[in-house]
Amino acid sequence: MRSKASFRGHPSHPALIPFPFAFLIGALLFDLAGVWLDRPGLWTTGAYLIVAGVIAGLIAAVPGIIDYRYTVPPNSTGKKRATRHALLNVLALILFTAARWLRGDVDVEPDTLILGIEGLGALALITAGWMGGTLVNRNQVGVDHRYANAGKWQDEAVKAERGGASIKVKGGLEVNQMKLLRVDGKRVVLGRTADGYVAFDDHCTHRGGSLAGGVMICGTVQCPWHGSQFDLANGEVKAGPARNPIHVYRVERAGDELEIFGVADSSAS
Ligand code: FES
Repeated sequence: MRSKASFRGHPSHPALIPFPFAFLIGALLFDLAGVWLDRPGLWTTGAYLIVAGVIAGLIAAVPGIIDYRYTVPPNSTGKKRATRHALLNVLALILFTAARWLRGDVDVEPDTLILGIEGLGALALITAGWMGGTLVNRNQVGVDHRYANAGKWQDEAVKAERGGASIKVKGGLEVNQMKLLRVDGKRVVLGRTADGYVAFDDHCTHRGGSLAGGVMICGTVQCPWHGSQFDLANGEVKAGPARNPIHVYRVERAGDELEIFGVADSSAS
Protein backbone atom coordinates (compact mmCIF):
# COMPACT_ATOMS: atom_id res chain seq x y z
CA MET A 1 0.00 0.00 0.00
CA ARG A 2 1.48 3.33 -1.01
CA SER A 3 0.64 6.95 -0.81
CA LYS A 4 2.39 9.99 -2.22
CA ALA A 5 3.35 12.91 -0.10
CA SER A 6 5.77 15.79 -0.45
CA PHE A 7 6.88 17.71 2.60
CA ARG A 8 10.12 19.02 1.24
CA GLY A 9 11.29 21.39 -1.41
CA HIS A 10 8.77 23.95 -0.27
CA PRO A 11 10.31 27.24 0.81
CA SER A 12 7.14 28.34 2.70
CA HIS A 13 8.49 28.22 6.25
CA PRO A 14 11.67 30.30 5.71
CA ALA A 15 9.67 32.65 3.46
CA LEU A 16 7.18 33.44 6.27
CA ILE A 17 9.77 34.09 8.99
CA PRO A 18 10.54 37.74 8.04
CA PHE A 19 6.98 38.83 8.97
CA PRO A 20 6.93 37.99 12.70
CA PHE A 21 10.60 38.96 12.92
CA ALA A 22 10.02 42.40 11.44
CA PHE A 23 6.82 43.05 13.42
CA LEU A 24 8.23 42.03 16.81
CA ILE A 25 11.66 43.65 16.49
CA GLY A 26 9.83 46.69 15.08
CA ALA A 27 7.54 46.69 18.14
CA LEU A 28 10.53 46.93 20.48
CA LEU A 29 12.10 49.70 18.40
CA PHE A 30 8.85 51.70 18.24
CA ASP A 31 8.37 51.33 22.01
CA LEU A 32 11.93 52.42 22.75
CA ALA A 33 11.67 55.37 20.38
CA GLY A 34 8.29 56.33 21.85
CA VAL A 35 9.62 56.37 25.42
CA TRP A 36 12.85 58.12 24.37
CA LEU A 37 11.07 60.85 22.39
CA ASP A 38 7.91 60.90 24.57
CA ARG A 39 5.72 60.21 21.53
CA PRO A 40 2.61 58.15 22.47
CA GLY A 41 1.90 57.50 18.80
CA LEU A 42 5.10 55.49 18.52
CA TRP A 43 4.49 53.18 21.48
CA THR A 44 0.87 52.71 20.41
CA THR A 45 2.21 51.52 17.05
CA GLY A 46 4.53 49.19 18.96
CA ALA A 47 1.57 47.67 20.81
CA TYR A 48 -0.23 46.94 17.55
CA LEU A 49 2.96 45.52 16.02
CA ILE A 50 3.18 42.98 18.87
CA VAL A 51 -0.31 41.72 18.06
CA ALA A 52 0.57 41.47 14.35
CA GLY A 53 3.89 39.77 15.17
CA VAL A 54 2.39 37.14 17.45
CA ILE A 55 -0.32 36.31 14.87
CA ALA A 56 2.30 36.13 12.07
CA GLY A 57 4.48 33.94 14.32
CA LEU A 58 1.64 31.49 14.93
CA ILE A 59 0.96 31.30 11.18
CA ALA A 60 4.66 30.73 10.42
CA ALA A 61 4.73 27.99 13.07
CA VAL A 62 2.41 25.75 11.02
CA PRO A 63 4.86 25.03 8.15
CA GLY A 64 7.60 25.11 10.77
CA ILE A 65 6.01 22.19 12.61
CA ILE A 66 5.63 20.32 9.29
CA ASP A 67 9.31 20.89 8.49
CA TYR A 68 10.30 19.79 11.99
CA ARG A 69 8.19 16.66 11.79
CA TYR A 70 8.88 15.53 8.21
CA THR A 71 11.89 17.35 6.74
CA VAL A 72 14.58 17.66 9.40
CA PRO A 73 16.36 14.28 9.54
CA PRO A 74 15.81 12.39 12.81
CA ASN A 75 18.77 11.53 15.07
CA SER A 76 20.88 14.33 13.63
CA THR A 77 22.60 17.50 14.77
CA GLY A 78 20.10 19.33 12.55
CA LYS A 79 17.22 17.95 14.64
CA LYS A 80 18.82 19.22 17.85
CA ARG A 81 19.33 22.62 16.26
CA ALA A 82 15.72 22.64 15.01
CA THR A 83 14.47 21.81 18.51
CA ARG A 84 16.40 24.73 20.05
CA HIS A 85 15.21 26.99 17.20
CA ALA A 86 11.57 26.05 17.85
CA LEU A 87 11.81 26.45 21.64
CA LEU A 88 13.41 29.89 21.33
CA ASN A 89 10.69 31.02 18.92
CA VAL A 90 8.00 29.81 21.34
CA LEU A 91 9.77 31.62 24.19
CA ALA A 92 9.89 34.83 22.12
CA LEU A 93 6.15 34.67 21.38
CA ILE A 94 5.38 34.04 25.08
CA LEU A 95 7.54 36.99 26.17
CA PHE A 96 6.02 39.42 23.68
CA THR A 97 2.51 38.21 24.54
CA ALA A 98 3.26 38.73 28.25
CA ALA A 99 4.62 42.22 27.56
CA ARG A 100 1.51 43.12 25.59
CA TRP A 101 -0.80 41.71 28.28
CA LEU A 102 1.01 43.53 31.12
CA ARG A 103 0.67 46.79 29.26
CA GLY A 104 -3.13 46.76 29.05
CA ASP A 105 -4.42 49.47 26.71
CA VAL A 106 -2.41 50.16 23.56
CA ASP A 107 -1.81 53.81 24.52
CA VAL A 108 -0.27 52.99 27.91
CA GLU A 109 3.41 53.93 28.02
CA PRO A 110 5.62 50.81 28.34
CA ASP A 111 7.63 50.86 31.56
CA THR A 112 11.10 49.43 32.17
CA LEU A 113 9.75 45.96 33.04
CA ILE A 114 7.77 45.74 29.80
CA LEU A 115 10.68 47.01 27.71
CA GLY A 116 12.94 44.46 29.44
CA ILE A 117 10.57 41.59 28.62
CA GLU A 118 10.36 42.74 25.01
CA GLY A 119 14.16 42.99 24.91
CA LEU A 120 14.47 39.37 26.09
CA GLY A 121 11.89 38.33 23.51
CA ALA A 122 13.88 40.10 20.78
CA LEU A 123 17.07 38.36 21.94
CA ALA A 124 15.35 34.96 21.78
CA LEU A 125 13.98 35.82 18.34
CA ILE A 126 17.37 36.90 16.96
CA THR A 127 19.08 33.78 18.33
CA ALA A 128 16.33 31.57 16.87
CA GLY A 129 16.67 33.41 13.55
CA TRP A 130 20.43 32.78 13.50
CA MET A 131 19.80 29.07 14.10
CA GLY A 132 17.10 29.10 11.42
CA GLY A 133 19.62 30.51 8.96
CA THR A 134 21.98 27.62 9.75
CA LEU A 135 19.11 25.16 9.29
CA VAL A 136 18.55 26.51 5.78
CA ASN A 137 22.13 27.20 4.71
CA ARG A 138 23.90 24.18 6.15
CA ASN A 139 21.18 21.66 6.93
CA GLN A 140 19.25 22.58 3.78
CA VAL A 141 15.82 22.55 5.37
CA GLY A 142 13.31 24.28 3.11
CA VAL A 143 15.64 24.10 0.12
CA ASP A 144 14.15 23.21 -3.26
CA HIS A 145 16.30 20.22 -4.26
CA ARG A 146 17.11 19.15 -7.80
CA TYR A 147 18.77 15.98 -9.03
CA ALA A 148 20.46 15.20 -12.37
CA ASN A 149 18.36 16.15 -15.39
CA ALA A 150 16.39 18.63 -13.25
CA GLY A 151 14.82 15.79 -11.25
CA LYS A 152 12.50 17.12 -8.56
CA TRP A 153 12.32 16.00 -4.96
CA GLN A 154 10.08 12.95 -4.58
CA ASP A 155 8.71 11.68 -1.32
CA GLU A 156 6.68 8.49 -1.01
CA ALA A 157 5.08 6.88 2.04
CA VAL A 158 5.19 3.08 1.90
CA LYS A 159 3.30 0.79 4.24
CA ALA A 160 5.29 -2.35 4.99
CA GLU A 161 3.27 -5.55 5.02
CA ARG A 162 3.04 -7.04 8.50
CA GLY A 163 5.85 -9.60 8.88
CA GLY A 164 6.86 -9.08 5.23
CA ALA A 165 10.52 -9.48 4.30
CA SER A 166 10.40 -6.81 1.60
CA ILE A 167 8.56 -3.76 0.30
CA LYS A 168 7.52 -3.06 -3.26
CA VAL A 169 7.73 0.35 -4.91
CA LYS A 170 7.58 1.88 -8.36
CA GLY A 171 10.86 3.10 -9.83
CA GLY A 172 10.23 6.01 -12.18
CA LEU A 173 13.66 7.58 -11.75
CA GLU A 174 16.27 8.60 -14.29
CA VAL A 175 19.94 7.77 -13.78
CA ASN A 176 21.46 9.72 -10.85
CA GLN A 177 18.07 10.66 -9.42
CA MET A 178 16.81 9.69 -5.95
CA LYS A 179 13.61 9.71 -3.95
CA LEU A 180 12.84 9.39 -0.29
CA LEU A 181 10.74 6.46 0.92
CA ARG A 182 9.08 6.66 4.33
CA VAL A 183 8.54 3.10 5.45
CA ASP A 184 6.53 3.14 8.68
CA GLY A 185 8.61 5.99 10.06
CA LYS A 186 11.94 4.78 8.68
CA ARG A 187 13.59 6.87 5.94
CA VAL A 188 15.10 4.95 3.03
CA VAL A 189 16.50 6.41 -0.20
CA LEU A 190 15.79 4.78 -3.55
CA GLY A 191 18.27 5.80 -6.23
CA ARG A 192 19.00 4.84 -9.79
CA THR A 193 22.60 4.39 -10.91
CA ALA A 194 23.85 3.48 -14.37
CA ASP A 195 23.92 -0.14 -13.14
CA GLY A 196 20.39 -0.18 -11.78
CA TYR A 197 18.42 0.73 -8.68
CA VAL A 198 19.95 0.98 -5.19
CA ALA A 199 18.43 1.56 -1.77
CA PHE A 200 20.08 2.79 1.42
CA ASP A 201 19.34 4.48 4.74
CA ASP A 202 18.65 8.20 4.57
CA HIS A 203 21.09 8.76 7.40
CA CYS A 204 24.67 9.92 7.05
CA THR A 205 26.81 8.22 9.69
CA HIS A 206 28.68 11.45 10.40
CA ARG A 207 26.01 13.70 11.93
CA GLY A 208 22.79 12.33 10.51
CA GLY A 209 22.42 14.38 7.33
CA SER A 210 19.75 13.40 4.82
CA LEU A 211 21.43 11.62 1.93
CA ALA A 212 18.27 12.02 -0.15
CA GLY A 213 19.05 15.74 -0.10
CA GLY A 214 22.55 15.12 -1.43
CA VAL A 215 23.97 14.29 -4.81
CA MET A 216 24.36 10.86 -6.41
CA ILE A 217 26.71 10.22 -9.31
CA CYS A 218 28.63 7.18 -10.61
CA GLY A 219 27.27 4.95 -7.85
CA THR A 220 28.36 7.32 -5.08
CA VAL A 221 26.17 9.48 -2.88
CA GLN A 222 27.49 12.64 -1.25
CA CYS A 223 26.02 14.03 1.96
CA PRO A 224 24.96 17.67 1.62
CA TRP A 225 26.02 18.66 5.15
CA HIS A 226 29.80 18.06 5.24
CA GLY A 227 30.52 16.22 1.99
CA SER A 228 31.02 12.60 3.11
CA GLN A 229 30.78 10.15 0.20
CA PHE A 230 29.51 6.57 0.29
CA ASP A 231 29.88 3.76 -2.24
CA LEU A 232 26.35 2.52 -2.99
CA ALA A 233 27.53 -0.96 -3.96
CA ASN A 234 28.40 -1.75 -0.34
CA GLY A 235 27.84 1.38 1.75
CA GLU A 236 31.56 1.91 2.44
CA VAL A 237 32.96 5.40 3.05
CA LYS A 238 34.80 6.82 0.02
CA ALA A 239 35.46 10.22 1.59
CA GLY A 240 35.03 11.57 5.13
CA PRO A 241 34.44 13.09 7.56
CA ALA A 242 32.15 10.05 8.08
CA ARG A 243 34.04 6.97 9.28
CA ASN A 244 31.31 4.33 9.32
CA PRO A 245 29.46 2.83 6.34
CA ILE A 246 25.80 3.38 5.58
CA HIS A 247 23.35 0.51 5.38
CA VAL A 248 22.42 -0.55 1.85
CA TYR A 249 19.51 -2.82 0.92
CA ARG A 250 19.15 -5.47 -1.76
CA VAL A 251 16.91 -4.33 -4.62
CA GLU A 252 15.42 -6.65 -7.24
CA ARG A 253 12.97 -6.14 -10.09
CA ALA A 254 9.54 -7.67 -9.53
CA GLY A 255 7.56 -7.19 -12.73
CA ASP A 256 7.09 -3.46 -13.22
CA GLU A 257 7.94 -2.82 -9.58
CA LEU A 258 11.06 -2.90 -7.43
CA GLU A 259 11.37 -5.11 -4.39
CA ILE A 260 13.56 -3.85 -1.55
CA PHE A 261 14.62 -6.44 1.02
CA GLY A 262 15.36 -5.98 4.71
CA VAL A 263 13.76 -2.56 5.25
CA ALA A 264 10.86 -3.84 7.30
CA ASP A 265 13.20 -5.89 9.50
CA SER A 266 15.45 -3.00 10.51
CA SER A 267 14.46 -0.62 13.25
CA ALA A 268 12.97 2.77 12.50
CA SER A 269 15.35 5.71 12.59
S1 FES B 1 26.34 14.76 8.36
FE1 FES B 1 28.39 15.41 8.13
S2 FES B 1 28.96 14.56 6.21
FE2 FES B 1 26.97 13.88 6.51
